[in-house]
Amino acid sequence: MDELRRAVRIVADLTAGYLADVGERPVWQPVTELDSSWLTDQDLPTAGRPFSELVDDVRARMLPYPLGNGHPRFFGWVNSAPSAAGVLVAPIAAAMNPSCAGGEHAGVLLEHTVLRWLAELVGFPHRPGGGLLTSGASMATVIAVAAARQRAAYQDGLDVREEGLYGHRPMVMYVSAEGHSCLRKAAELLGLGNRQVRVVPVDDAFRMNVETLRSLVARDVRAGLRPFCVAASAGTVNTGAIDPFDEIADVAAEHTMWFHIDGAYGALGVLADNAWPGYAGMARADSLALDPHKWLGVPVDCGCVLWRDPALTRATFSLIPAYLRDEIEGGLGWFSEYGPEQTRPFRALRAWATMSHLGRDGIVRLVDTTVQLARTLEAMIDAAEDFELLAPRTTSIVAFRYRPANQEQRLDELNRQIPSAVQHRGRAFLTGTQLAGVEALRACLLNPATTKDDLGVLLDEIRVAAAGITAAETQP
Ligand SMILES: Cc1ncc(COP(=O)(O)O)c(C=O)c1O
Repeated sequence: MDELRRAVRIVADLTAGYLADVGERPVWQPVTELDSSWLTDQDLPTAGRPFSELVDDVRARMLPYPLGNGHPRFFGWVNSAPSAAGVLVAPIAAAMNPSCAGGEHAGVLLEHTVLRWLAELVGFPHRPGGGLLTSGASMATVIAVAAARQRAAYQDGLDVREEGLYGHRPMVMYVSAEGHSCLRKAAELLGLGNRQVRVVPVDDAFRMNVETLRSLVARDVRAGLRPFCVAASAGTVNTGAIDPFDEIADVAAEHTMWFHIDGAYGALGVLADNAWPGYAGMARADSLALDPHKWLGVPVDCGCVLWRDPALTRATFSLIPAYLRDEIEGGLGWFSEYGPEQTRPFRALRAWATMSHLGRDGIVRLVDTTVQLARTLEAMIDAAEDFELLAPRTTSIVAFRYRPANQEQRLDELNRQIPSAVQHRGRAFLTGTQLAGVEALRACLLNPATTKDDLGVLLDEIRVAAAGITAAETQP
């Protein structure tokens, strides 16, 4: 144990030092060929190696090559810096190493609290048994859509768990053109078939067009199909748009469809000062996915799904073999009865530490600060002659493009190449997307340590990277 104690102290210093200096290092850098082949091709050692050597390898071969999130000038995808409190307790979760499938122990009991806190934070109705921590929103979505499928089939007199989808009319799910790919994955995985996924177009603000949703549902009903689920977004991944929840909830209610909201990234935006008023309808959903490992900064992985009706989700998944029977949990059963996973990690500890350390005020401040940073970036882009906003900003994502004078013909090509060129320079990190057929850049602001100067660096880096791309193209 002395060897472990010594190594843990070194790791503690390494971890704290890494977090303290993250802003001084390149945001991202390519892995050298040597380290890449070491990371990829090493053989399992025949004889075991001491802790000290493992720590040396981590220091030399791994810490220099992060994804980049954690740095104040990381604006890519939706990846946050880890909360220090989450990092602090992560090794303890590993040391205790429980399975949070069920039983009476700290991991399971704490998860109930974390789920209630998350529901209360975003104003989602909560009853004990009303949610699950998951690996992420993708798994959260599978669970929610499975419950939706179960309910619809049950209403139609069929038990999907017994019969599968055989004998049932095709079930149709509605997602917006800006909905995350995890919705489609869930539909495929649950045997619904992509042909039964309707992609509802969006309006100019990239929000689901509810009139079109209505007419698509009506057409499917006329065709004898079974509309069973509509999935809206609280913060789309491309632009952070928030769908019109109230109107969508009305359509869902008219057709006894399940109303799911993907709030993986943006559900927490409800806490911002002057938050989008449409967030109010979020409480009408049957299920809500939100990722504590996104805006809240809980170290990966920690997703979450909340639902209105605990009994229904339990009925979707519960199988209790004799060796798992347990009456201890006051009628709620095991967490493993509410989803596909049996062995489940102690995610609640990282989430609890993060939320407790920030407190409600700190969480509101975190959201507010990052939304304010996005507003600032939006204003800077609006004021710059060589940039153009491509979508309204409602949360902390800004979608835009570089638009230098006299390059109208090659804007798509230029903007497509910019993210990688910026990333390789190592001073900022952003990613791109396509919006309404146009190549776009997007910056997702999640790190309260980002400053206005960092935003200026981002725009300058884009200019320099673009100049490099142009110079390379015009070289003889
Ligand atoms: C809006 C949205 N939904 C769903 C997901 C999928 O979440 P996860 O990667 O946690 O499974 C993401 C991931 O970025 C997202 O941004």
